Amino acid sequence: MAFELPDLPYAYDALGPYMSAETLEYHHDKHHNAYVTKGNELAKEAGMDGKSVEEVVKASHGSNQPLFNNAAQHYNHIHFWKWMKPNGGGKNLPGSLKTAFDRDLGGYDKFKADFEAAGAGQFGSGWAWVAVENGKLEIMKTPNGENPLVHGATPILGVDVWEHSYYIDYRNARPKYLSAFVDNLINWEHVEEMYRQATN
Ligand SMILES: [Fe+2]
Repeated sequence: MAFELPDLPYAYDALGPYMSAETLEYHHDKHHNAYVTKGNELAKEAGMDGKSVEEVVKASHGSNQPLFNNAAQHYNHIHFWKWMKPNGGGKNLPGSLKTAFDRDLGGYDKFKADFEAAGAGQFGSGWAWVAVENGKLEIMKTPNGENPLVHGATPILGVDVWEHSYYIDYRNARPKYLSAFVDNLINWEHVEEMYRQATN
């Protein structure tokens, strides 16, 4: 099946003042859309246009860099939109998630510090993640479009630290953007759903 640009699960202005409508218009309508269009073109050329996005990400990794970049960014952004919601973030984790964060990541405060440090410390473009590997949560960071799927892990939370995700609203203050993301934007219900699927 061809890749498709999903609609945002909220209005463009729903995440203000932490992420503006202008950022979402560029990020979703221009950047994500370009990954979909280019990804479809390259998947077709590679004879992979019948595969799911997860399959294309894994199959193109290390063998077809242009296709990998676009397919991985498509996968990352599908979830990135769902990892945010208005009035999200903060310590109010659903029960099963709270237990896992306490057990594997040293609790919410340590998660917040380590996750934000991973995002701030990713040199250049990339992502910071919470991923499940062998049933256990860990914090990771990756460059460019790379994601935990190609490291034998399953992402349950990710934050985009490409400049296109924060430059309009925060200019070069990436740490401020990361802190606002954790405190005000994370959709813990989507994180919990991905955790449940990853540990099934
Ligand atoms: Fe992005």
